[in-house]
Amino acid sequence: KRCAILGAPIETGASQRGCVMGPASLRTAAIEDELRALGWEVSDLGDVAIPPVAPLPHPNPALHHLAETRAWIGALHEAAFDASQTCDLPVFLGGDHSMAAGTVPAMARRAAAADRPLFVLWLDAHPDLHTLMSTTSGNLHGTPVAYFTGQTDCEAYPPLPQAVEPRNICMMGIRSVDPAERGRIRETGIEVHDMRAIDETGVLVPLRAFLARVAQAGGMLHVSFDVDFLDPSIAPAVGTTVPGGATFREAHLIMETLCDSGLVTSLDLVELNPFLDERGRTAQLLCDLTASLFGRQVMDRMTRSYL
Ligand code: ARG
Ligand code: MN
Ligand code: MN
Ligand code: MN
Repeated sequence: KRCAILGAPIETGASQRGCVMGPASLRTAAIEDELRALGWEVSDLGDVAIPPVAPLPHPNPALHHLAETRAWIGALHEAAFDASQTCDLPVFLGGDHSMAAGTVPAMARRAAAADRPLFVLWLDAHPDLHTLMSTTSGNLHGTPVAYFTGQTDCEAYPPLPQAVEPRNICMMGIRSVDPAERGRIRETGIEVHDMRAIDETGVLVPLRAFLARVAQAGGMLHVSFDVDFLDPSIAPAVGTTVPGGATFREAHLIMETLCDSGLVTSLDLVELNPFLDERGRTAQLLCDLTASLFGRQVMDRMTRSYL
């Protein structure tokens, strides 16, 4: 099995600087060696970059870094699409979460070319469902899901070749939702499992049901993993910590179950801000979680059934 690593050192979508170092931090944690040790053929395609851009006016005065972020989205879309054609499972190293406005549409285009639907598992404290008009923070990492589901008021971003069906999205770990996002979740019907739901059922009940849907539809599956999905006590290296996040064991169980399913066709690792890390522990944890998704097990299992 072949995997490609693509760096997306974008930080213009976040309020604090530092995500630009995310790809370097994950490489320092030796993500490439870890995946190779699990029997994968790995190629590191290096980092995407953008040329200088002129500012872009917009009616929402809260927005900042719109021109750079738009340029990143366009560049990442192309690079992610190319990467997806060279391997079975591209891993996109972020970078703030606005990069998903490049990677997810690229994978949707890839899936459409194969005549398959794209499903998205969104592991995050936040639904990132603002449009360019509804965001009050102006931080564009809060907007990718609205864009790639084809909502209006995202027209300043590049034209969307292929939208993702809201019913093909499953969000887990959600615990910070703005009013406009709450309304949009209701309107679009996106499946959201907040932390209360996870406390009630555990992570496996909603995850297995979602994976069964993906398998049933013959879908491709993109996983977008935001560091703030995790509890801040185990993952401090993120600018938007929210208390009450996923535990170490919940996160590994999700990754192991995803591995068993064999359904994952692309992965984002986003919002890692190494400037806020403690002795590299968050980068190391992300690297270990990725290894679980790529097949690392504590003990060999005879059957790896996930249903
Ligand atoms: N909803 C908040 C905002 O729009 C937080 C977004 C956090 N998103 C993220 N990708 N960390 O500002
Ligand atoms: Mn700035
Ligand atoms: Mn996010
Ligand atoms: Mn988040």
